[in-house]
Amino acid sequence: MNDRLTVDVHLDPSELEAALRADVLAGLGGRPYSLPPKWFYDAAGSELFDQITTLDEYYPTEAERAALQQCAELIVGISGADTVMELGSGSSDKTRVLLDAFSAAGQLQRYVPFDVSETALRSAADSLVARYPDLQVHGVVGDFDRHLDRLPTDGLRLLMFLGGTLGNYTPGPRATLLAQMAATLRAGEWLLLGTDLVKDTGRLVTAYDDAAGVTAAFNLNVLRVVNRELGADFDVDSFEHVALWNADAEWIEMRLRAGRDMTVRVPPLDLEVPLVAGEEILTEVSAKFRRDGIAAELATAGFEVVEWWTDPAGDFALSLSRRTD
Ligand code: AVJ
Repeated sequence: MNDRLTVDVHLDPSELEAALRADVLAGLGGRPYSLPPKWFYDAAGSELFDQITTLDEYYPTEAERAALQQCAELIVGISGADTVMELGSGSSDKTRVLLDAFSAAGQLQRYVPFDVSETALRSAADSLVARYPDLQVHGVVGDFDRHLDRLPTDGLRLLMFLGGTLGNYTPGPRATLLAQMAATLRAGEWLLLGTDLVKDTGRLVTAYDDAAGVTAAFNLNVLRVVNRELGADFDVDSFEHVALWNADAEWIEMRLRAGRDMTVRVPPLDLEVPLVAGEEILTEVSAKFRRDGIAAELATAGFEVVEWWTDPAGDFALSLSRRTD
């Protein structure tokens, strides 16, 4: 146990199971069927996601890293922050680019990783404490839809939300989340947001339907999670991965398509889910943004966009916003 590391845990396994039950009941209790994307990320799903980020087709990870490398020093200077908080920190891999810049400027006091997985958070925290000899790490294990108010308040804070994860929210919940972020921050504090951008439809669809089938396996894994955690009897092999571009909503949709008529049982919920051949379960939306649109959403929430950067190809954006008074 290192005296520069503390971890607050606001989630226990029974709460997680209750949340999964509620989501499955809401999503499969009636048509049209859906399951929220947060349940992709058990150990196997997290491993598959890490594989996705290495695929040639899945450009966002490297594009965001390239953008971060270009602007990290500017972010340090403009924000004047001494505390970096990160929602959905996972392995904190890209975070190092930014922490290195804060550390080089002698401006890094505290890192606050916030993640649903205590295992991932602790392993990332251990390696960061080792890498930065003066850094305090204050981890928070929680669900950022419910526990944002538990973020520690010390220092001048920069909140990071990277990876394009905001895109997994539909507009209503997205506005709620952005408003909660604004409510958590004080005037003059900062939000660094990573958003994937609208681009050629072919490239977008291919990024979510790779040739090796890794994204298909990632999508199908959510059925294994529901089988394991709730004793459901999804026949995973009878479903097919579908990725499509919804041009009106400007988001990618991932769906799972039933290959035959079937009835799926979820015993603890007393639920029977009838599916006809070809019927689909919506498992993820991944919204793609335009500069004016996201700036307007940020303004509504209480943020002013101060800087906007993209990778050289213009595929992925980082926006630095200030919490307004
Ligand atoms: C990193 C969670 C935003 O929506 O692009 C990757 C997840 N889904 N391939 C995304 C994901 C399918 C990813 N997020």
